[in-house]
Amino acid sequence: MLERMEFWAMVAHESDGGVVLTRQEVNEEFLAPGAVTIKVHYSSANYKDGLAITPGGGVVRKYPIVPGIDITGEVVASDTDEFAPGDQVVAHGYEIGVSQNGGFAEYARVPAEWVVKLEGLSTRDAAALGTAGFTAALSVRALLDHGLTPDDGAILVTGATGGVGSVAVDILSGLGFEVIASTGKTDSADLLSEIGANEIIGRLPEDPDAKPRPLSKARWAGAVDSVGGKSLAYILSSIGYGGAVAASGLTGGHDLPTTVMPFILRGVCLLGIDSVNHPIEKRRDTWARLAGDFRPRHLTTLENFAPITDVEKVLHSIKNGTHSGRTVLGVAGEF
Ligand SMILES: NC(=O)c1ccc[n+]([C@@H]2O[C@H](COP(=O)([O-])OP(=O)(O)OC[C@H]3O[C@@H](n4cnc5c(N)ncnc54)[C@H](OP(=O)(O)O)[C@@H]3O)[C@@H](O)[C@H]2O)c1
Repeated sequence: MLERMEFWAMVAHESDGGVVLTRQEVNEEFLAPGAVTIKVHYSSANYKDGLAITPGGGVVRKYPIVPGIDITGEVVASDTDEFAPGDQVVAHGYEIGVSQNGGFAEYARVPAEWVVKLEGLSTRDAAALGTAGFTAALSVRALLDHGLTPDDGAILVTGATGGVGSVAVDILSGLGFEVIASTGKTDSADLLSEIGANEIIGRLPEDPDAKPRPLSKARWAGAVDSVGGKSLAYILSSIGYGGAVAASGLTGGHDLPTTVMPFILRGVCLLGIDSVNHPIEKRRDTWARLAGDFRPRHLTTLENFAPITDVEKVLHSIKNGTHSGRTVLGVAGEF
């Protein structure tokens, strides 16, 4: 079944109140329960992977664990007719990389109902998109399902150089929306213009010390927000009548100091986005859209590559806010 019983993994252990990530040879006991065994080609670096190697990060319940919330690769063994050896697949979300071993290893095993067969995307493309790109797609879907069209006006994207933000800019621009990119990185204007942003602004609110107002001037028809906190509160107060905000993240804080005014006076909707427990049939359908009408046009611009052995360095850049775009982590042949 497996080409060999020993394989390499990056394993996170607790040590002296910290978390250390070590390159380690492991055996089949490291494979979690599940029907589908995957030879991992790539994983990717997400904010949540950064939290998994942070003491008190709040996403991993029990160490040691192989982190890596994204797995892309080839099926090498399957106990179900749904998948066969050779299938190219992506698996992410559910318990992967947080309470069961994830993608930072040469092999991974997961339940069949967590696996998406790739059609029209390579395993490298799927890793470049990863959980962050999938979450961007869910956010855009939510705005479209709400009824927003390019004729309604501009869409704001916050954390625009981040994984969720940058893929959202690319998808929205490909669908014909005017996109306003909000970023804290003053040197990212060229990148954001290249991937489709029509205007680039700083982080929000522009004056972080100003007293928040229940309603501000209407500036955008909708927003994809992965920042949360005061930023999300300000955005809600600045969305036009009948608009919507798809909210997925908390890089700017998990509190939401707002009032009901945007909801009851402008009919604004706050749309919650969760990629982790998203049902598998809808998940497969959203991946099909990522290969189709949502396909980002600038994935190669957004994508960086690092071997899995450099993962700690990449995750530190995510944690300290200097990372841009999406980093694909090469696993097969890179240990
Ligand atoms: N709900 C879900 O299922 C789901 C799925 C994926 C991710 N998420 C969440 O979404 C968020 C983004 O994830 P990601 O993978 O895209 O992370 P990422 O690649 O690290 O991007 C986050 C971006 O947020 C901005 N940012 C960082 N610190 C900030 C601060 N203090 N205040 C305001 N903006 C800040 C930065 O963009 P700029 O420098 O351009 O401003 C940064 O690039 C995280 O909170 C993550 O947990 C949720």
